[in-house]
Amino acid sequence: MFQLSETHEMLRKTCRDLADKELAPKAAHHDEKHLFPGEQVSKLRDLGLMGVAVSPEDGGSGLDNLAYAIAMEEISRGCASTGVVMSVNNSLYCDPVMRFANAEQKKIWLEPFASGQKLGCFALSEPGNGSDAGAARCIAEQDGDEWILNGTKAWITNGYEADAAIVFATTDRSMKHKGISAFLVPMPTPGLSLGKKEDKLGIRASSTCNLIFEDCRIPAENMLGEPGMGFKIAMGTLDGGRIGIAGQALGIAQAAFEAAVGYAKEREAFGKPISGLQAIQFKLADMATRIESARLLTWKAACLKDSGARYTKEAAMAKLVASEASTYVAHQAIQVFGGNGYVTEYPVERYYRDARITEIYEGTSEIQRVVIASQVLKSMS
Ligand code: CAA
Repeated sequence: MFQLSETHEMLRKTCRDLADKELAPKAAHHDEKHLFPGEQVSKLRDLGLMGVAVSPEDGGSGLDNLAYAIAMEEISRGCASTGVVMSVNNSLYCDPVMRFANAEQKKIWLEPFASGQKLGCFALSEPGNGSDAGAARCIAEQDGDEWILNGTKAWITNGYEADAAIVFATTDRSMKHKGISAFLVPMPTPGLSLGKKEDKLGIRASSTCNLIFEDCRIPAENMLGEPGMGFKIAMGTLDGGRIGIAGQALGIAQAAFEAAVGYAKEREAFGKPISGLQAIQFKLADMATRIESARLLTWKAACLKDSGARYTKEAAMAKLVASEASTYVAHQAIQVFGGNGYVTEYPVERYYRDARITEIYEGTSEIQRVVIASQVLKSMS
């Protein structure tokens, strides 16, 4: 646990090199112009990073979830937007398809996505409900051998570039969350239109939009899992997704920390580098400690997932601690940089903006606390 295997170390180095050479140098440009990092995502695909924990028979790299967490951190250290594109494809799209699709579905809906030829997205939230995922209003009605989808899904990362979405819609409203089912929807497809590209505070190189379904017909065989299983598929998927976002948050924190240390060693005040001042040293100590704590929780959650044990609580703890460490570290990094931290000439203002979403998507910090408390209370009853 405390010593990574040779395979994990090699993966870490490969991702770090890619981040330093190919991602970080373009990250500010993509952020400023709101540009999808298509070339960078192709490089992830070439390294097998779009289906890290998917088996090679299904188009993936056949590594484990610890490898995925490590890769997510290193890629996000270079560009957090590229990190979320990777995370959504790996953990929100490929993972549930791998777990719930039948063999025929896997050929179409998994292989090309895990190999990075195609890109997936995950459509759970709606304009009127985010945290209360069980209150989904999007409906799916059966008509012969087709399902007809109506409603709007919101905050869809990869919405503009995706080739398919996992869409959660209610097939029986009287059953509440037990009436929600999951569907594999090709993109584009008649009856599905995209809302405007959201103009965001951070992770601006990834696209986020609404998916609007108006009598969108999909074949009956596109249901993922059994009718009424949608909510459990979504919850289980988010457990894994939270490990990915913890990795992304860690990457942003690590980048901000390294920038702060570099700057503190060079910048002089009161006749010496500011790294010699205890006020700055204490900040660096707190930043390093929070990052290390978050990394241990993230790796533990990933190892638990690899072991086959339930990891809901640990994934929520990892996401909570890593996202809060990320916003803290980015905040302190700006403080170390002073005025220089507040302008786009240096990357720390972007880290600060990018970090913020990690406390919101795939479950807010408040929802992580709800999940942790419910697991703790259950385990001690
Ligand atoms: N794994 C498997 N099953 C689970 C589960 C899990 N982690 N969590 C809950 N369930 C099951 C429960 O066992 C229960 O099953 P039964 O009905 O058989 O008893 C059922 O689901 C309902 O559970 P709860 O009563 O706990 O459900 P709830 O309605 O109270 O909600 C919640 C729980 C934790 C608040 C949940 O709604 C939640 O996680 N909300 C946050 C949603 C979220 O993270 N959204 C992010 C969307 S993705 C995104 O961000 C976009 C992107 O593109 C990045």
